[in-house]
Amino acid sequence: MIIEKYKVERPALAIHGGAGRWERAKAEEEKYLDVLEKSLLKGYEHLRSRNNRIESVIEAIKVLEDSMIYNAGSGSSLNIAGEREMDAGLMDGESLKAGAVTLVKNTKNPIELAYLIYRYTDHMIIGCHGAEKIAEYYRLEKPPAIPKHVFDRYKETLKNIDKVEYIRRNKDLIDIYKEEIYGTVGAVAIDIDGKLAAATSTGGIMLKLPGRIGDTPIPGSGFYSDSYVACSATGIGESILSISLCRSIALHYRYTKDLEKSVIEAFRELERIWGKNTAGIIAISNNNTLIFAYNTTAMARGYKDPNNIYYRIF
Ligand code: GLY
Repeated sequence: MIIEKYKVERPALAIHGGAGRWERAKAEEEKYLDVLEKSLLKGYEHLRSRNNRIESVIEAIKVLEDSMIYNAGSGSSLNIAGEREMDAGLMDGESLKAGAVTLVKNTKNPIELAYLIYRYTDHMIIGCHGAEKIAEYYRLEKPPAIPKHVFDRYKETLKNIDKVEYIRRNKDLIDIYKEEIYGTVGAVAIDIDGKLAAATSTGGIMLKLPGRIGDTPIPGSGFYSDSYVACSATGIGESILSISLCRSIALHYRYTKDLEKSVIEAFRELERIWGKNTAGIIAISNNNTLIFAYNTTAMARGYKDPNNIYYRIF
């Protein structure tokens, strides 16, 4: 597992653009890095000028969702039927309030829709037509057509479906996913007062079965924030769900008060069952420690605080 640890100054924002092998991105790394930088600058501006941690993670994620090249929003991977089915969620560490949407097809920015659930409903997770109805009511933008490169990748994978051994049990599904994970985007923020927020958005794993729900819209799994830790996860949803990865890290932190140890402990548990090449996280604690960790080849990641901006994939 690769771990990077930073001591940041407040306010600070960190993002990820998915853990995986990133084979295809090698030739176009600049394009991906450019989007990471834009996302950090946009999200950080909301944190700096308004001290609004929730807005900052939303704004950072919207840049990634709109980029067409990360697996979230307009660039989402397609399910086996060739459709987008997007998930997103966010959580405020102070109130423990969360909002999430799942299996959304007709919304350009699922993270915005998750925010509407958080802000205007009594619920935490709303799926499918129920979520779309709220998007319609609030007149959220519809997504653009599926980009050609996403559709080409879908067709190519579909053509080789025998090789990728797609429709087998979850353990085998992981083997497909090891081939290419352009999975998921996320953000965590700490404001000037040390309050935290987390958010995650995804198109899910490529060629998933229609109706499959991964970790991303589930508080505690794909995202989590309390007063001590904010965390966003990426990778194979089933592995992350099985140990509630983000909440596991937060719970370990309550006892250890050591974020790095907490992340290592949670990954040990995850890897015991699911092995390597399965997940990545970004996590920040209220004592300003930031961790990037992944057991894949690479993870698009970055952070910005008052003094530094940092972003990379490999
Ligand atoms: N981590 C994204 C997913 O499995 O859907």
